[in-house]
Amino acid sequence: MKKTVTTFAKAKAEGEKLTMLTAYDYSTAKLIDASGVDSILVGDSLGNVMLGYEDTLSVTMEDMIHHGAAVARGAKEALVVIDMPFMSYQTSVYDAVVNAGRLMKEGRGQAVKLEGGKEVCPQIKAITEAGIPVCAHIGLTPQSINAFGGFKVQGKDEAAAKKLIEDALAVQEAGAFAVVLECVPEKLATIVTEKLNIPTIGIGAGAGCDGQVLVYADMLGMFSDFTPKFVKRFAETGNIMTEAFKAYNKEVKEGTYPTKEHTYAISDDVIEKLY
Ligand code: KIV
Repeated sequence: MKKTVTTFAKAKAEGEKLTMLTAYDYSTAKLIDASGVDSILVGDSLGNVMLGYEDTLSVTMEDMIHHGAAVARGAKEALVVIDMPFMSYQTSVYDAVVNAGRLMKEGRGQAVKLEGGKEVCPQIKAITEAGIPVCAHIGLTPQSINAFGGFKVQGKDEAAAKKLIEDALAVQEAGAFAVVLECVPEKLATIVTEKLNIPTIGIGAGAGCDGQVLVYADMLGMFSDFTPKFVKRFAETGNIMTEAFKAYNKEVKEGTYPTKEHTYAISDDVIEKLY
């Protein structure tokens, strides 16, 4: 059965952990969907993982729609959340609603995610009032990487920790159905989780969150440009792929692939007429 934002609310109420993984294409979405993972995030991390950018800033609405629609076709059960890319919502409430609408109509997401706390609450409220569920994202928000001056743990001093709690309460008040907490000390994330009625989805925020999210290529060991401390590699798929590519290269070059079992037959009568 298709999971919805109600699944998230129920999990929070019943103390059940939620799972979310990123995906950017149909085939990966199908595999994740079949695993029972609750939600697939079409993250703007596709800029790093799929497109080879050094950050997420260059990702466009067209990128998110293109990849979002592919994931939506593969996700029969998991809730599909699509990231709003940099400058698709910061510019105005109007832009935010129009672009969130495009991610639903053209990208076929069931919800959108955007980064920021109090400062984006007018956008969260307006998008939610348009009937589009919003997942908020606070703590380390990669679209603000230039303002942060790098990928750093957030909320470590008293003022920053208090601000994080205020932001979490504000996005909940604005209508968000869930909030991603990225790179936040575990004890602070646990306090935020206890204060909120909506689920917290942690990434680098410890076990006290209501759920967890990871970039699928990180947890499969497929993306090695950088590996944050919080990533656990559940498989070394990158090595398996490299070995398979090497074997293919070798077999084609030495003539051991393809063999008869990989080819199509034709009658000798037809062949004779071709000479
Ligand atoms: O873009 C992304 O993959 C994300 C997750 C890291 C939460 O926002």
